[in-house]
Amino acid sequence: MSTPLIEVADLAMRFPARGRDDGHLALNGATMTLAPGELVVVLGANGCGKSTMLRCIAGMLRPTGGEVRVEGQAISGLSGRTLTEARMALGMIFQSAHLVKRRSVVANVLAGTLGRHRSLGIALGKLPHQETPHAMACLDEVGLAHFAPQRAGTLSGGQAQRVSVARALAQRPRALLADEPVASLDPDAAEELMTLLRRVAHQDGLGVLCVLHQPELARRFADRILGMQAGRIIFNHEPRHVRDNEVSALYVKRDASQRLAA
Ligand SMILES: Nc1ncnc2c1ncn2[C@@H]1O[C@H](COP(=O)(O)OP(=O)(O)OP(=O)(O)O)[C@@H](O)[C@H]1O
Ligand SMILES: [Mg+2]
Repeated sequence: MSTPLIEVADLAMRFPARGRDDGHLALNGATMTLAPGELVVVLGANGCGKSTMLRCIAGMLRPTGGEVRVEGQAISGLSGRTLTEARMALGMIFQSAHLVKRRSVVANVLAGTLGRHRSLGIALGKLPHQETPHAMACLDEVGLAHFAPQRAGTLSGGQAQRVSVARALAQRPRALLADEPVASLDPDAAEELMTLLRRVAHQDGLGVLCVLHQPELARRFADRILGMQAGRIIFNHEPRHVRDNEVSALYVKRDASQRLAA
């Protein structure tokens, strides 16, 4: 079997204590893999650790236990330039598109290429205009090339989110990590965005790891569904093998004494 794009092994994340307890264990042995060309959806209740896992994979948070490997390389051992390069392999998409509203759509997409350019001009805030053809190709991929010169602030929420996918693709990543990318979209725009993410996985061969709160979208679009509870992955199946009661059990409110705060 080929090396997975992302391997998460026994990941733990204990956030430091604010009060008298010894902190909060947000991840407690989370284990999963993501292969090129697959769309994997993570489902789980608020606070179960989904965003924390994505942030550890993206190298934005340093886990307190376990390991994340990107293309076989443990990111915990990386720093400086090598960490930046490993991060460039992973494009992030968030609930909100976070575009610079007063700049054009294509300028926002160009910003996705910044991590690959080091020059005084870039350090001073210039955009790498030599990447414009690539940025336009990414905009075309999300169906919005005709919006290139328009100010980003004029876009609808669904369009803005597709531009944020184009910006992530402009980075030339091997995987996309999407944290509730459809949370603020209407049903049609959510559908369009999931169709786009599936195409990016199946046609372009990227691995896509996507957190959702919509089990029905997960069932329709995912190649695999991961169920997360209390900081670990408790099921990992193709949608046709995911039982309704397994999904509903993820959202059962648990007594405070059963919670993970350890
Ligand atoms: N920086 C932090 N410091 C302390 N605790 C944190 C921090 N970030 C997250 N947590 C805690 O870790 C737990 C997991 O948070 P996380 O954001 O990963 O949940 P989530 O599954 O993404 O939830 P949601 O569905 O609401 O987005 C929560 O209890 C949260 O309060
Ligand atoms: Mg979250």
